[in-house]
Amino acid sequence: MSIAMDVALFLHLTAVAVWIGGMIFAQFCLRPSLSDISPQLRLPLIGAVFGRFLDWVGVAVLLILVSGGFLLVRFGGGKAPWPLHAMAALGVVMMMIFGHLRFAVFPRIVRAVQAQKWPDGARAVEIMRRLVIANLVLGIVTIAIAVYSRGF
Ligand code: HEM
Repeated sequence: MSIAMDVALFLHLTAVAVWIGGMIFAQFCLRPSLSDISPQLRLPLIGAVFGRFLDWVGVAVLLILVSGGFLLVRFGGGKAPWPLHAMAALGVVMMMIFGHLRFAVFPRIVRAVQAQKWPDGARAVEIMRRLVIANLVLGIVTIAIAVYSRGF
């Protein structure tokens, strides 16, 4: 592999670690720790935490897309082994889910907090939780496929 490919793979894997690690933290550490807190405190906190985390994921998504696209071209583009295309396809699905979460669901939480409509906020948080779980499962499957692709 060339230095450019090493750098691309480094950026790719670091961004994947930020995205997947952040989702694990949100789902399995933050969420259970907030379950006993009243919605008036919980929802603004979730809004503030995810407002920052989603910015990090936005940067991670851009890095994954650019580095992954670069690597895919270097691995033969259309002629690259099929697991790499599977990774790209799953990655794009994950990015679309992220886009929906970031630009449709998260603003609902922000609006609900501003209007102090706690039940609306709680519903949006539940949708966000499901989308995060979906992306977590897809992300782990994608990592498994990435490892599998080494045999090709
Ligand atoms: C647009 C989306 C993506 C594209 C085009 C893409 C493409 C690639 C390519 C070409 C490689 C190099 C494979 C190799 O070194 O043999 C790679 C490595 C890797 N990618 Fe992706 N990827 C994408 C998204 C993702 C996502 C979303 C994840 C995880 C959630 C992921 C996880 C990995 C891992 C773990 C490796 C290292 C594989 C290894 O070197 O054994 N990728 N990716």
